[in-house]
Amino acid sequence: MKILLVCLGNICRSPMAEGILRDMIGKEGLSWETDSAGTSDYHVGEAPDLRAQRTMMERHIDISDLRGRQLRPSDFEEFDLLLAMDESNLRNMKAIAPNLELARKARLMMDHAPDHRMREVPDPYFGGDEGFVEVFDMLTMACRNLLADVRS
Ligand code: 4NP
Repeated sequence: MKILLVCLGNICRSPMAEGILRDMIGKEGLSWETDSAGTSDYHVGEAPDLRAQRTMMERHIDISDLRGRQLRPSDFEEFDLLLAMDESNLRNMKAIAPNLELARKARLMMDHAPDHRMREVPDPYFGGDEGFVEVFDMLTMACRNLLADVRS
């Protein structure tokens, strides 16, 4: 199983999602692969936002090794599932998919957390630290369910 997490900048939400999923996969002993990407090229080559790194580190997950990259059409061939943080990301992803069938691999992350009241993971970039904690909690719920959904 190869899963790509996608947001706008690839420095806040999607590297946090990648870190949480990577941690769970490691603890479960699964050989799944994860990566993350941004629909934009704003932060290519950059480490995750320091607020994202700190929020994760306080919860014992190190994402300092991750680097920003931009989503590319070939990601739709390489990955089994491409998970968007919000509807805008999902639209932009589908727009660069090589064809309609491959575009169906792209879904909303929060589709895996149907009991949560929010369908989109809010962009924490322009807000305060509390936004990153909210993102962490939402992503933890979605990743836990994702593991169960894919294995069932
Ligand atoms: P992300 O957050 O999409 O969760 O990585 C953002 C990071 C940077 C920008 C926007 C969102 N930006 O406009 O630079």
